[in-house]
Amino acid sequence: MRQQIDISAEESAKQLQFAHLLKERLDTKRQALGRDLTYHIETFGCQMNAKDSEKLAGILETIGYKETEDENADIVLYNTCTVRENANNRVYGRVGFLGKLKKKKPDMKIILCGCMMQEQHVVEKIKSSYRFVDIIFGTHNIYKLAELLYEQENSDGMCIDIQKDADRIVENLPSARKYSFKGGVNIMYGCNNFCSYCIVPYVRGRERSRRPDDILQEIREMTENGVSEIMLLGQNVNSYGHGLEESINFAGLLEKVCRIDKVKRVRFMTPHPKDLTDDIIEVIAREPKVCNHVHLPLQSGSSRLLKLMNRHYTKEDYLALTERIKAGIPGVSLTTDIIVGFPGETEEDFEETLDVVKKVRFSSAFTFIYSKRTGTPAAKMPDQVPEEVVKKRFDRLLKTISDISAEITEEAVGNIENVLVEEKSSQGEGYVTGRLANNLLVHFKGDESLLGSYVDVKLLEAKGFYYIGEIFS
Ligand code: 5AD
Ligand code: SF4
Repeated sequence: MRQQIDISAEESAKQLQFAHLLKERLDTKRQALGRDLTYHIETFGCQMNAKDSEKLAGILETIGYKETEDENADIVLYNTCTVRENANNRVYGRVGFLGKLKKKKPDMKIILCGCMMQEQHVVEKIKSSYRFVDIIFGTHNIYKLAELLYEQENSDGMCIDIQKDADRIVENLPSARKYSFKGGVNIMYGCNNFCSYCIVPYVRGRERSRRPDDILQEIREMTENGVSEIMLLGQNVNSYGHGLEESINFAGLLEKVCRIDKVKRVRFMTPHPKDLTDDIIEVIAREPKVCNHVHLPLQSGSSRLLKLMNRHYTKEDYLALTERIKAGIPGVSLTTDIIVGFPGETEEDFEETLDVVKKVRFSSAFTFIYSKRTGTPAAKMPDQVPEEVVKKRFDRLLKTISDISAEITEEAVGNIENVLVEEKSSQGEGYVTGRLANNLLVHFKGDESLLGSYVDVKLLEAKGFYYIGEIFS
């Protein structure tokens, strides 16, 4: 289905005006208090949320708020996730804690946004049980933060603005990136796949692709500001381009991104196995800038469950695809997402999953216990699997994955790899952490001056999911 999207320059100009008005008020407050006013954003969930949080931080910084490490701030914003139930429970717990903080600091503002807020029952619960929350908004209108803050300041109640659907993509608002040298770029929003367990299509809306020129422009600006590694983000990146006036697909976009001089590395997240076509494999193989890592969610190895999950591929399709990827991209690293305990999962189904894990040999995997999400088709399916059974399967799966990861990382010991130095290492003083093209991490001796640069590192020791190494010169 084609969708009309209003890419609204007017809207971003309007929002910047609200930011400007708030900035004037904030300057007065700062003078009266004799200190800066601060914000703290806590992000739950995936990379899309992390990216949204950078946009929210950009707006708050434009107003003049300064970031602070903990919740002892003038504005505390929780950007929530609702993919699994336990994430929701954690949010409620922490909002309760914020309520206590606010009793001591009545001027503090508490803001909740993100996927959880797109669910009506959540908003009802907050309205009735967490009345101290100041602003609630969803996933479709994060660009409105300045306007909502302005509105809330001019009223005394809770300000709620949830849009059911996305009517527009608002470009060109400021963003405060977490890293100065790498960053995510949304290439599309939403998801049309309706996997039967997943709530994302209900809270993030239908698929909308951004125009290639806007994406490339954003990337160029990022590279002018020191970014060299780009992560292209979308719930289903390989259906990029559907509904756009321009004729372009994901493989074409990848190539265009590689043509930008200052881009050194390109990653992407997340492709769907049903749409990962050979032209994408060819671009990854051909373009040295595209990292040799494919994160390819499996979810289950059982064709019977995959059908119930509405995934549109079988175990055999998945295995054949990963064979094509391995043959096409030498040295590729494959990672995945797996759900354990989908309704009706039998021991045989689970063993099919283990079988795929052993055949594909993933470098690592995110494993999830199935979480029943009200409103999804799977929530009504019979034979929900008992918790103890799921827990045992989950542990077996983890063990299989980590044994294989350990073998894979061991094989590369002795190799010299080019890495992007990302942070000071948790391994100790004088160590930094670098990321290999295949997404694994290596800790090695080095100082902060290396952050953001690319260096060659010899892998000395494999430690399961990561390495210890030394600079190779
Ligand atoms: N229960 C457990 N895991 C889920 N995921 C999505 N929905 C659920 C659910 N209801 C997992 C999938 C997806 C990842 C982002 O989260 O594995 O790929
Ligand atoms: Fe959820 Fe499936 Fe869409 Fe991924 S592809 S966001 S699992 S519905």
